[in-house]
Amino acid sequence: MRDFAALRRRFPVLARKTYLNSGSYCALADSVRDAINAYMEDRLQVGANWDVWVEKNEAVRSAMAAVLRASPDEVAVTASASAGLNALASAFQFHGPRNKVIVSDFEFPTNAQIWHAQELRGARVVHVPATPDGYIPLDNFARLIDDETQLVAVTHVCFRNGARLDIPGIVRLAHAHGARVLLDCYQAVGALTVDVRQLDVDFAVGGMLKYLLGTAGIGFLYVRGALLPTLIPSNSGWFAQENIFAMDITANRPAPSARRFEAGTPAVVNCYAAEAGLKIILEVGTDVIEQRVRELTRHCLDELAGVGWASVTPPQDERRGPMVCIPAREPARLCQSLMEQDIVASFRDNNLRATLHFYNSADDVLRLVTVLQQCRTRHHPHAK
Ligand SMILES: Cc1ncc(COP(=O)(O)O)c(C=O)c1O
Repeated sequence: MRDFAALRRRFPVLARKTYLNSGSYCALADSVRDAINAYMEDRLQVGANWDVWVEKNEAVRSAMAAVLRASPDEVAVTASASAGLNALASAFQFHGPRNKVIVSDFEFPTNAQIWHAQELRGARVVHVPATPDGYIPLDNFARLIDDETQLVAVTHVCFRNGARLDIPGIVRLAHAHGARVLLDCYQAVGALTVDVRQLDVDFAVGGMLKYLLGTAGIGFLYVRGALLPTLIPSNSGWFAQENIFAMDITANRPAPSARRFEAGTPAVVNCYAAEAGLKIILEVGTDVIEQRVRELTRHCLDELAGVGWASVTPPQDERRGPMVCIPAREPARLCQSLMEQDIVASFRDNNLRATLHFYNSADDVLRLVTVLQQCRTRHHPHAK
């Protein structure tokens, strides 16, 4: 049994705040702060330490591969999830009959906008609708995935309502039609186990600033190894080349590995932070984290039900990610008043969004529900 209280003490902000905002930006761990300070010290003492810095990028690649249960050669370290998506999209061709890209209505904007941007290159983008109960059943995907589908690009967990899609089911449907699957696992990875081999996805994107405990300005793209030789990105740069230091300006010679989806100089300081964050995730273990997060979200839903405040997040464990979304009147104002009482959360649409990580506790959940009850008259959706 993990000592979650001891782990919690490694995140100093948790001593001051009820922090329910990891789906927006994680709490800062002392080791992540130390890593950023180590970079600063390097700059002060050594000046330019490129050999060490390039290795930091490789350390992030290896740690990210371990989290995804992939090989380091299948992972590109990118500047953001969007950067990874753009590099990948640039390697697809859309001029043949297989030009359909399927996205769901649960997507974070970037994973729809970037595919719509490919309409300039011949892509047809089709949206899979949600049902009125706030889920997207497999049947809705089955109706749209066909032999003209090149890619199904779906989120793992919806950033609006916390619903988790049936990824293995979607992958089976897509592969049966010869289509590939891209998983946007940003709202899941680090809080749930995202095993790319077990899920059998072809591509996955995300970034380090949420449940991976790192910082903004660094992300990843996973590409199934067998697909690498067939995908040559036109979105490139010198760090994407087979031999970075050849400095050859006569040709584009992409790296054989997923590094071909990278571009320019890595964000060195972000690599320091990301490596430190990923180390914590690997130390605690994603299976342990997933179970803890499931218990906390379950507890939150039960407490809310107990005070007659329904959630729009699916109650079934297998349909839920690390967040609980709570309908509220004036959610922005509610968020502000929670902030004034040292509860950090966020909001989307008409919902307050409480996102939970392993460092949260049952007390955090109780505190949230208690304060919600105090604001009930103003913010409960059905208050008279
Ligand atoms: C599910 C999901 N995908 C993508 C993004 C955007 O990632 P980036 O800003 O790194 O491009 C976010 C950011 O919140 C997200 O929640």
